Amino acid sequence: MEVVIAKNYDEMSKIATNIIRDQILKKPNSVLGLATGGTPVGTYKELVRMHKQEGLDFSKVITFNLDEYLGIPDDHPERYMNFMKSNLFNQINIRPDAIHVPTNIWEHVEEFCQWYEDEIDKAGGIDLQLLGIGPDGHIAFNEPTSSFASRTRVKTLDESTIKANARFFNNDESKVPKYAVTMGVGTILEAKTLLLLANGKKKAGIVAQFIEGPITSMITASALQLHPKPIVVLDEDSASDLKLKDYFKWVYSNKPKKYLEEQ
Ligand code: GLP
Repeated sequence: MEVVIAKNYDEMSKIATNIIRDQILKKPNSVLGLATGGTPVGTYKELVRMHKQEGLDFSKVITFNLDEYLGIPDDHPERYMNFMKSNLFNQINIRPDAIHVPTNIWEHVEEFCQWYEDEIDKAGGIDLQLLGIGPDGHIAFNEPTSSFASRTRVKTLDESTIKANARFFNNDESKVPKYAVTMGVGTILEAKTLLLLANGKKKAGIVAQFIEGPITSMITASALQLHPKPIVVLDEDSASDLKLKDYFKWVYSNKPKKYLEEQ
């Protein structure tokens, strides 16, 4: 696993954006998997800046978001489709029909999940999947004990996730939807590159566990240890509990020039 430790949130966001930009430059019709939550907001800001100031072109890019709340009203600002529109899609030149975010409605949800998997396949699979991590170690909404073979499906959210996400719902836990549609761990592991971001002291414990601890479905982010190309970009605070912190810094600063040029 490549672990990059940035000085702070802004540097973490810049490193992540450069990886995404290089992916798009290498393959203009890249299939990107996208994430929500507070962590990737700086990355989306920087991608918008690159589009506006440097002409980064999204016209051939296809996107698939990881997850969506079920039962959230269409016009709710925390509906992930709306979050993505305001933070990214409305500010870049992506084709509306190239955007995929899971459904927010219960009707035909199982058929939808199969359709979503089929659309990812039809697009040729995800080239680069952006990820955050929940306080219980989840990726997307794959709560503890989610099978590593799981596919896109309905999940009931853990109480700790509802508590953590209440900050987006006026700190009112009763307003946080209890269910979500989420890509499975198996779906995520099929992406060619995984790029997980984490920042802040609150994430330090879980970050150390998923990188340095055992592979366990109790912490679904630990499934990254099974992936051929996982990149984790952290800020100093979220990296603070890592035993191998100095090793990761040493490896990154001694990365062979060839690879640095490719990034
Ligand atoms: C939600 C999302 C996850 C995200 C997590 C962390 O639960 N479903 O995809 O990684 O929040 O959010 P934050 O980045 O706000 O800490």
